[in-house]
Amino acid sequence: MLEVRGLSVTFKIGSGMLTRRRSLRAVREVDLTVAAGETLAVVGESGSGKSTLARAVMRLLPISSGRIILDGDDLTALTNTALRQVRPKLQMVFQDPYASLNPSKLIHNIVAEPLLVHGHARGPALDAEVLRLLTLVGLDSHHLNRYPYEFSGGQRQRIAIARAIALKPKLLVLDEAVSALDVSTQNQILNLLEDLQAEFGMAYLFISHDLGVVRHIADRVAVTYLGRIVEQGPVEGIFDAPAHPYTRALLAAVPIPDPVRQRARRAPPLAGEIPSPLDPPPGCAFHGRCPFAQPVCSERMPEHEGVTHGGSVACHVKPA
Ligand SMILES: Nc1ncnc2c1ncn2[C@@H]1O[C@H](COP(=O)(O)OP(=O)(O)OP(=O)(O)O)[C@@H](O)[C@H]1O
Ligand SMILES: [Mg+2]
Repeated sequence: MLEVRGLSVTFKIGSGMLTRRRSLRAVREVDLTVAAGETLAVVGESGSGKSTLARAVMRLLPISSGRIILDGDDLTALTNTALRQVRPKLQMVFQDPYASLNPSKLIHNIVAEPLLVHGHARGPALDAEVLRLLTLVGLDSHHLNRYPYEFSGGQRQRIAIARAIALKPKLLVLDEAVSALDVSTQNQILNLLEDLQAEFGMAYLFISHDLGVVRHIADRVAVTYLGRIVEQGPVEGIFDAPAHPYTRALLAAVPIPDPVRQRARRAPPLAGEIPSPLDPPPGCAFHGRCPFAQPVCSERMPEHEGVTHGGSVACHVKPA
């Protein structure tokens, strides 16, 4: 459904007047695919470029290079008019349902808006469709004529999801969509997303820094570090047999209830800070924090190679 090839996004920092203009490479040569009906989770520490990747896929910001192909259409080659026509196919849900819902609009109008804008329904048919969408996300007709402030965080995220699925998208990009919610509400929203996916076959690009959430929802996982994907593969493979030292360190930082499995983990929790994307380290960007680093790691970028878990890893050492 989605194919991303060699995607890079670079921000220009500084005015060039008082400060030197610098390039911040937020996303670097990312390749990924998401099949129809599948959930690909993108995980990584804060600043690793996850939101930039999400916004680039949504074509909300200019890209430096690469291709984004959605359901056969190359989004990077389309004119703005053509892009507007494919827009319904890709929709996004943001982290903060407080900021993403217009506070001065009634729920009915919030959910109806995309249907009106794209001319999908009006009049009584529109009202019926809005009610159908609200019912799908677990709300009902009592909620139609209320304002966003009258709802809890979880309910607001349900409203945001109802709006996002109104145009029957093929791909939903979810950027930290449950991160602001408490754990039990998170689980309810994750279950809702799973139900909707089973019913409509949407693909999800699910951005999160929370590995517990990712384990719950993902079919496949891509691990990002400083703008690059360092490992990707099926969710069980990534969690049970992580190949990249960074993936291992991320997982080691998540407590698991089973003490035997916890002890069997081969990596200490992550030390040190993620380096600045203004001045990324040469070679493998993780080498400065990696307990297995060899001289080659600071000299050459490792290529992705196949791993027994069915995915791939970019690591020179591939420690056992
Ligand atoms: N509009 C922008 N202009 C300049 N730099 C930006 C811009 N947006 C993001 N960045 C920088 O790009 C890098 C990646 O940011 P991004 O928000 O994509 O990370 P993230 O993985 O989503 O982090 P978090 O987990 O905190 O949401 C960061 O160094 C950030 O400061
Ligand atoms: Mg982010």
